[in-house]
Amino acid sequence: MAQDDLVSEIARLPFPEMLNRTLALEYRFIVSYPRLIDRMVDVEKTVDKESEVVKILKQLGQESVYHCDYVMRIIRALGGEPTFNFEIIADMPDIVHHCEEQLEREMLTLAIYRRAKSLAEDRIRANVWHRVANRLASLLFRRASQPTTKGPILELLEKLIAAERSHVEKMDKVIRILQLQR
Ligand SMILES: [Fe+2]
Repeated sequence: MAQDDLVSEIARLPFPEMLNRTLALEYRFIVSYPRLIDRMVDVEKTVDKESEVVKILKQLGQESVYHCDYVMRIIRALGGEPTFNFEIIADMPDIVHHCEEQLEREMLTLAIYRRAKSLAEDRIRANVWHRVANRLASLLFRRASQPTTKGPILELLEKLIAAERSHVEKMDKVIRILQLQR
């Protein structure tokens, strides 16, 4: 299925369910990036452990941990239940190809957060989420007494979008570095 169709399909899910899809992707990143590093540094010995590639992949893995935490908090604040329904990660016969697949997953994650943000904006505009947004503000930031013009859900989603945009760029860079080494 083309990525645009997949994103449209996911966007039709109830909001917490939609975010559960990104939770699965983020969880997969947490597992995949250290595995990729181990494979390149210790098994194939094609990349140095102090290299830029390793630094980038470590950062992507660590940030995915925070993202999981953010997403779980949003889902719970909306009355949903976070689920960890991720597929088994297969072998990695070709590292560059595996990195290209990771890039596609980073792009998918970014696309879902973007779609979630526009849906959240629609709902906030329609006044549906004010109560939930206030509750989330007190849960997440403990600053309900200092309301911002945007809802805290939007703020969190914007942070996630900015981070994922940089993950896409960094993963693209990793692929270019690895291709040059071939
Ligand atoms: Fe990411």
